[in-house]
Amino acid sequence: MATVARELSTAVRTRGLTRGFGGRIVLDDIDLEIGPGEFVALLGRSGSGKSTLLRALAELDDGVAGSGELAVPAERAVVFQDSRLLPWARVLDNVVLGLDGAGAREKGRAALAEVGLAGRERAWPNELSGGEQQRVALARSLVREPALLLADEPFGALDALTRIKMHALLRELYDRHRPAVLLVTHDVEEAVTLADRVIVLDAGRPAVDREIGLPRPRHTGDPEFVAHRAHLLAALGVEG
Ligand SMILES: Nc1ncnc2c1ncn2[C@@H]1O[C@H](COP(=O)(O)OP(=O)(O)O)[C@@H](O)[C@H]1O
Ligand SMILES: [Mg+2]
Repeated sequence: MATVARELSTAVRTRGLTRGFGGRIVLDDIDLEIGPGEFVALLGRSGSGKSTLLRALAELDDGVAGSGELAVPAERAVVFQDSRLLPWARVLDNVVLGLDGAGAREKGRAALAEVGLAGRERAWPNELSGGEQQRVALARSLVREPALLLADEPFGALDALTRIKMHALLRELYDRHRPAVLLVTHDVEEAVTLADRVIVLDAGRPAVDREIGLPRPRHTGDPEFVAHRAHLLAALGVEG
């Protein structure tokens, strides 16, 4: 099992991180560093180990066979494809769940306002659309002021229009709070639109590690955007 050490100079640091299931290696000896406040997108084919890596960084993989060193901040938040809200708890209660200390509810209200859900504190999760539920999930992660935000295909179940709005929201929240981000996605455009660095996982390793230096707002038609997309699609085995 991995040794877990804490340090501040990087948000994420792995050395020789290896994970496998039933003797099959999924993550093969990965050295990865993510700087404080760095926004990284992780691409890879289905089954390439993206979620396995994210779960390792979230320390949610207890009992999984593996080795290597891993250093991550204690203040982490994880967002999944489904919002994982408790259906029997109102929106604000979902946001502040497990958060103690004075002012928790005030912080929860402020986080809901930041994601555009002021006034919906007393709604039940099933009264919200899928996009709104993911906004609540983002508020719930924000309220913990994470140094590292781990998001596993958080917009994967949303319609195209809602997804575009959520991209803008995530980037806005990121600009304001500056956590390090690892965003798992299978959507190349989402990766190039949002991230400052894109990693492609293939055969258990980062096969591509590419800085995206495009100014913002980014336009999918920009020749540089098109070049990044073509390069990443090729790395994924898809010809553009
Ligand atoms: N709990 C598990 N038990 C057995 N195999 C698993 C488990 N989780 C993931 N795997 C396998 O590990 C590989 C990588 O899975 P995953 O990390 O979920 O890929 P991705 O998120 O890139 O689609 C897949 O072949 C998957 O079947
Ligand atoms: Mg996955």
